[in-house]
Amino acid sequence: MVIIGDASPSDLDGIYEIEKGSFDDPYPLGLLKAYLFISNGLFIVARSEKVLGYALGIVQSKNRGHVISIAVDPSFRGEGIGRSLLGELHRRFLKLGCSYSYLEVAVTNTEAIELYRAMQYKVVRFRVGYYGKGKHAFVMVKDLRERVGIC
Ligand SMILES: CC(C)(COP(=O)(O)OP(=O)(O)OC[C@H]1O[C@@H](n2cnc3c(N)ncnc32)[C@H](O)[C@@H]1OP(=O)(O)O)[C@@H](O)C(=O)NCCC(=O)NCCS
Repeated sequence: MVIIGDASPSDLDGIYEIEKGSFDDPYPLGLLKAYLFISNGLFIVARSEKVLGYALGIVQSKNRGHVISIAVDPSFRGEGIGRSLLGELHRRFLKLGCSYSYLEVAVTNTEAIELYRAMQYKVVRFRVGYYGKGKHAFVMVKDLRERVGIC
């Protein structure tokens, strides 16, 4: 059984392994530690016997939930874990008074864009070179007050 809950310091090594297996330019362990310290309940993990995925958000300007990162262990993708993590992050954003959630995603990251579309995010902006030269991003936004899609 997969359980979604708060990340704890003992999860950090597992989170970092997923991070390294998911991104060309992973967050350093020290940065993940710092995010955990300031997380305010917005650093969450999916666990069974080990950490299978994580999501991390922050609240900006009181009502903007920013999805900083989400990743699932490559061996456990396509099983609904990403959707569950994002749904829980949305619920936590709402509890903290956010009215919408937004994120940046590489225009080439089809899996993530499909996940966000499936959860009613819409592309609102195109950021040239956001991830470096020639590496562009979409900004996607979801209205959290629309209940549909928060699962
Ligand atoms: C993006 C990511 C978190 C998705 O996690 P996941 O657990 O595999 O996603 P889920 O199984 O919950 O899928 C939810 C929905 O996303 C979409 N989706 C997920 N993987 C997909 C794929 N390979 N192709 C097309 N759509 C996909 C589908 O709409 C899916 O819904 P469905 O199963 O009803 O069809 C995962 O692929 C990942 O960790 N990628 C590397 C890290 C990353 O790029 N993070 C995003 C940074 S912006």
